Amino acid sequence: MCGIIGCILSSGLVAPILFSGLKRLEYRGYDSAGMATICEGKLYLKKDSGKIDDINARLNFMDMPGSLGIAHTRWATHGAPSRENAHPHLDCSGRIAVVHNGVIENFLELKRELEDRGHRFTSRTDTEVIPHLIEEGVESGLNLYEATLQAVRRLRGSYAIAVISTVEPDKIVCARNESPLIVGIGDGAYYCASDIPAILEYTRNFISMDNGEIAILSLGGVEFRKISSGEIVSKKSFTVDWSVELAEKQGYPHFMLKEIYEQPLSLRNALRLQEQYLDLLSRFIDRGERVFLVACGTSYHACLAASYMFSKIAKVAAFPVVASEFLEQYGDSVGIDDVILAVSQSGETYDVLRAVDHARMKAATVLGLTNTVGSTLTRISRAYIVQQSGPEIGVAATKTFTSQLIVLAQLAMKVANLRGKLSQQESDHLRDSLKSMPEVVNRVLNSCADNVKLLAKRYAKKNLFLFLGRGINVATALEGRLKLLEITYIPSLAFSAAESKHGPISIVEKGVPVIFIAPRDSTRKEIVGNIMEMKARGAEIIALCEEDDGELIGLVDHHIPMPKGVPDILSPIPYVVPLQLFAYYVAVERGLDPDKPRNLAKSVTVP
Ligand code: G6P
Repeated sequence: MCGIIGCILSSGLVAPILFSGLKRLEYRGYDSAGMATICEGKLYLKKDSGKIDDINARLNFMDMPGSLGIAHTRWATHGAPSRENAHPHLDCSGRIAVVHNGVIENFLELKRELEDRGHRFTSRTDTEVIPHLIEEGVESGLNLYEATLQAVRRLRGSYAIAVISTVEPDKIVCARNESPLIVGIGDGAYYCASDIPAILEYTRNFISMDNGEIAILSLGGVEFRKISSGEIVSKKSFTVDWSVELAEKQGYPHFMLKEIYEQPLSLRNALRLQEQYLDLLSRFIDRGERVFLVACGTSYHACLAASYMFSKIAKVAAFPVVASEFLEQYGDSVGIDDVILAVSQSGETYDVLRAVDHARMKAATVLGLTNTVGSTLTRISRAYIVQQSGPEIGVAATKTFTSQLIVLAQLAMKVANLRGKLSQQESDHLRDSLKSMPEVVNRVLNSCADNVKLLAKRYAKKNLFLFLGRGINVATALEGRLKLLEITYIPSLAFSAAESKHGPISIVEKGVPVIFIAPRDSTRKEIVGNIMEMKARGAEIIALCEEDDGELIGLVDHHIPMPKGVPDILSPIPYVVPLQLFAYYVAVERGLDPDKPRNLAKSVTVP
């Protein structure tokens, strides 16, 4: 997730506006930034890696001339944070500048094609193909809009882009597919930006761009067209009266809620990983004697779920290990034939890095899954994958968890295919199910929110909760419990429902809420038995179960209907969503700030 902004003014300098926009967009990414302006037919460019203020202290964006320009703040996905990889990116001639937020899936094939035709690339980003594609259009006689249209029609993936060029120094062309982009209309000024807060200081009048649209901004006005047909689209503007603070959360009261609702998008981005890295990691995993999945907190729960995925479809025993215990538990036995897949959203968690260091010393193969390009984990792993969720501000991990799950599922599937463990039919079915996850989560969000809110209201004052599941959804239960603990401070337990009789059932008495994660999977018969046990002790049962599961619905006190037909190994992805919402609403009911839980940090970099 990056932030982009563009602006044309009838008079005055654009640089201060772009700079303040970048500051507002910083929450979307902050590993590098850059700005390009045009003045008297010349293109000016400044960019570098680092925090925006530090870059500004070095380069002074404010002295960039011109009343038209674009700017970018980056959260690296392709290529580490560096000056070369920072945006804007230019074409060979240095006349066209582009900023981009999103992921271009087919950039490697486009890059190869462009290089064959003599284009020179200076970065490792996916974005750089765009200015070169536009350059080809301009060279063939197209105007900037036509050349951009022709270029974006070649792109697969997500993008919000803004383009300027000395060829037509009075225009900004911007286009959108899946990544957010809005247009702002001011007094003698036009803006485009990734989100409203970036320009809220300057205008309250906006037009949202929809997927598949391209816009041409000039002082004469804004024209919107469809990328597919080039047809003009007429659009309505709207006025925003939010405070800047509320706008940063895009109208959501907390970042956590915003991030929960971002999951359809972050899942789509996690499905756009570069195949070559998935292939590389899966080959290492396939060759490993033993595979350890090492992580902390929420990332550990993703690893626990992944151990079921690897076993069920790839027939690989992968051991999930809490990173802080890795040394004591396996430190003496780990060796050259083992593979350690470290999962860490931040890529900086102390215990994860310590486990990884030890494994490296013992010559094991270290692989990484992280959300942070350039993090220590990416630097010390033999190979790594970036999950592309964008920055997560809420301390309680939400969107990064479901993205980790979907990446790990893709890896498990790759290994399964390498080992010939899946039939064509099974493989196709799983691939289709993976692709459907963003939409499935979207449906869950739409269908369950009201219901969950009511349940949260009803149970907010309870001082004990149990979360129970079986099979892969033990991980979901643990994660649901962790969300509730982290932000509401309510003591709660989670474990395999099968373990109840070995102790935990002793604390169940009348009125204790017990939340069951109960899809119709292979553990279903036993789950019914566990529900009966709890009911018999007076527990109040809330079940997450398939929408038409009459038998279960008849048994429980409350149910949250879930979509049918989700394969077992993917079920934690949609099933964790109501639990995230539940924790959020209970915290709000109790008057707590879910974004700032006491005593917790987003990234734990100390022992
Ligand atoms: C902290 C955070 C958790 C996170 C855990 C692991 O405890 O509060 O949300 O799951 O660290 O972080 P990582 O960055 O390694 O995934």
